[in-house]
Amino acid sequence: MSTVLVLNGPNLGRLGSREPDVYGSADLDQLRAMLTRAAPAGTTVDVRQTDDEAELIHWLYEAVDERIPVILNPAAFTHYSYALRDAAALVTKAGVTLVEVHLSNPHARETFRHTSVVSAVATGVIAGFGFDSYRLALDFIARSVPATA
Ligand code: DQA
Repeated sequence: MSTVLVLNGPNLGRLGSREPDVYGSADLDQLRAMLTRAAPAGTTVDVRQTDDEAELIHWLYEAVDERIPVILNPAAFTHYSYALRDAAALVTKAGVTLVEVHLSNPHARETFRHTSVVSAVATGVIAGFGFDSYRLALDFIARSVPATA
């Protein structure tokens, strides 16, 4: 059995009601259900959300210590959190996959969203495809990361 951590940053707990024109009308439970359905047999998808930078960083330490691949939507932390970037670098420097995802395409939005301080230390970035950004990341991890016992 292997696990994929799906970590979501601030305000993503409000998915469904938050700017549905930008983020869609489905909520985090629906994201969890979609990813659980999409996961290959034997893979558990552990979907979490926090508004707390420290908690998100500690979850990345968990990924390093347990060698769990990560799908990370850093939300607004994307654009300014060097602390989160440093924790994400710990993950990829340890040889653990970390895919940065975004529901929207930040490059098509306000200028402040054009910068990601996380992307340079991520394994890769998928943005602009709504929930499919996560599903594509999960497909990549399922195909590229050897399953653990
Ligand atoms: C987001 C894009 C960010 O700019 C924004 O702050 C979010 C969500 C996305 O998934 O499109 O909260 O990460």
